[in-house]
Amino acid sequence: MTTPSTLPDANSQTSGNAANYGHVVSGELDVSHGQILYLEDITVSFDGFRSLNKLQLSITDGELRCIIGPNGAGKTTMMDVITGKTRPDSGTVFFGQTIDLSRMTEPEIAAAGIGRKFQKPTVFEAMSVYDNLELAMKADKTVWASLIARLSGEQRDRIAATLARIRLTSEAHRPAGLLSHGQKQWLEIGMLLMQEPRLLLLDEPVAGMTDSETEATAELFLELARNHTLVVVEHDMGFVESIADKVTVLHEGSVLAEGSLASVQANERVIEVYLGR
Ligand SMILES: Nc1ncnc2c1ncn2[C@@H]1O[C@H](COP(=O)(O)OP(=O)(O)OP(=O)(O)O)[C@@H](O)[C@H]1O
Ligand SMILES: [Mg+2]
Repeated sequence: MTTPSTLPDANSQTSGNAANYGHVVSGELDVSHGQILYLEDITVSFDGFRSLNKLQLSITDGELRCIIGPNGAGKTTMMDVITGKTRPDSGTVFFGQTIDLSRMTEPEIAAAGIGRKFQKPTVFEAMSVYDNLELAMKADKTVWASLIARLSGEQRDRIAATLARIRLTSEAHRPAGLLSHGQKQWLEIGMLLMQEPRLLLLDEPVAGMTDSETEATAELFLELARNHTLVVVEHDMGFVESIADKVTVLHEGSVLAEGSLASVQANERVIEVYLGR
């Protein structure tokens, strides 16, 4: 018996249709082996310098993985490869068993269920918190079509649930520009959640946050894990300690160490190149 989802080309049939990117373009996500993301032998060079050097990474569905490592280790470049912003010179990137991300555009990868948060929040400052979430939910329409389309009860419930989750219910009708830096970061995470991603990539999410905002973000991430898979790049070790299932240390574009935070903190090479500074 043949199972269509395991045919090598099952995902490429509609990928040329860019106009379709609000819909599924790449087949079903298959996490039957437990892994949601696989990077194998990824190399990225800029002017002969290897930002990623035969990088291997495998992430389990539902886990909360933290990626640490010195400046220039390749952490952001790794996220650029996963989201299609940078094409690797060599290596493979798979989302689940069957979705070959190296053959997809950035919008197709987002539509397949991978959400990315950059360090700087990119919310619409003049619009209310609520309207930002509403627009994110309908990202496949034009702004004008989104604002005139009536919300269904179910859509209103989704926005309300997301507002509660990102701790912004009481701010719903304020312009996003008046939020604190931390609240803007949460709003942007909420906007990603409206797209119902399976995998969330977050680059230095607590940079610039107050201590209490950082603590609330740790709680939020722990609530999101399991239903989502989170890959979090952070330099804040206290934050990493409070959330990580497993930690990967990158150095010069490769994995230097991987395991519990305690085990990588005890690793002599890790102390030498990163923690001991
Ligand atoms: N578009 C690019 N052009 C040239 N070099 C680049 C480009 N993107 C990244 N690099 C280089 O690749 C290396 C890895 O950079 P990257 O931004 O991935 O590091 P990082 O681990 O995210 O560091 P940080 O902790 O400072 O954010 C750096 O030496 C950087 O200068
Ligand atoms: Mg970076």
